Amino acid sequence: MSNALLKGKKGIIFGALDEKSIAWKTALKCHEEGAQIVLTNAPVALRMGEINKLAEAVKAPVIGADVTNMDDLKKLFEESMKHFGGKIDFVLHSIGMSLNMRKGKSYTEIDYGFNQKTLDISAMSLHRVLRTAWDLDALNEWASVVALTYIAAQRVFPDYNEMADAKSLLESVTRSFGYHYALKKKVRVNTISQSPTRTTAGSGVKGFDGFITYAEKMSPLGNASSEDCANYIAVMFSDYTRMVTMQNLFHDGGFSYTGVTAEVINQMEK
Ligand SMILES: NC(=O)c1ccc[n+]([C@@H]2O[C@H](COP(=O)([O-])OP(=O)(O)OC[C@H]3O[C@@H](n4cnc5c(N)ncnc54)[C@H](O)[C@@H]3O)[C@@H](O)[C@H]2O)c1
Repeated sequence: MSNALLKGKKGIIFGALDEKSIAWKTALKCHEEGAQIVLTNAPVALRMGEINKLAEAVKAPVIGADVTNMDDLKKLFEESMKHFGGKIDFVLHSIGMSLNMRKGKSYTEIDYGFNQKTLDISAMSLHRVLRTAWDLDALNEWASVVALTYIAAQRVFPDYNEMADAKSLLESVTRSFGYHYALKKKVRVNTISQSPTRTTAGSGVKGFDGFITYAEKMSPLGNASSEDCANYIAVMFSDYTRMVTMQNLFHDGGFSYTGVTAEVINQMEK
């Protein structure tokens, strides 16, 4: 159902890899709510070709950009503004990648070269995106930028590995850049801390099946789905959340504030 929440708004969505991606669901939702979109992902992800299906569905051009490459980002924002015939109202940063996890390295034995790449792709990339928009003056007043994060930034989830550090940095960049962008142009920058979700990035976490089931039992509302997340992101892109900035917003069915649930206690008593 559409409420035309984003009618007339124009935005860039990073990170739609396949139908399971949170960015994919968000692109569908934003389109349904009346937004015009540009889709982007790393050139290597575009070669999979899946994104073309989404592009057709939401009538969006696809512009490749490796988020660690400033020339790519400049080209992306310039071409997007040309396509829209004006500045941009929202940006979704839905990007995560851990090289050490990919290589099977545990937290206590990480390779620091890989670690630098992980932090660059998963966290400093938000700074790069905001900096590019800032330098080009690409965002409209009251534009909204959302990045996706996970509660391992605040609490220990051992198998989340170096991504916990990456998410802490991502949330810090959100606050720090959010301050400057609010003063300069009333641009809002927030993170949404999402429940574990079955996607390519999510399933890369060791022991993911146990992890997602545990979170389900520890969340009074249950885990938030990627469709629920897309709905929340659409609200954050809308004018109904104009005074929200520099926040980490938990979208997790209550998990973050729950000490224990009856279901988990029952399980322990068995
Ligand atoms: N799935 C979960 O359980 C979960 C929970 C909380 C937060 N998140 C976060 O949500 C976001 C989206 O992940 P997802 O779960 O939809 O998985 P996903 O694998 O579908 O999306 C990750 C995306 O990052 C992109 N990417 C990787 N390297 C890149 C680069 N150099 N340049 C540009 N793009 C690059 C990938 O191509 C992919 O599209 C991530 O930030 C992730 O950490 C996921």
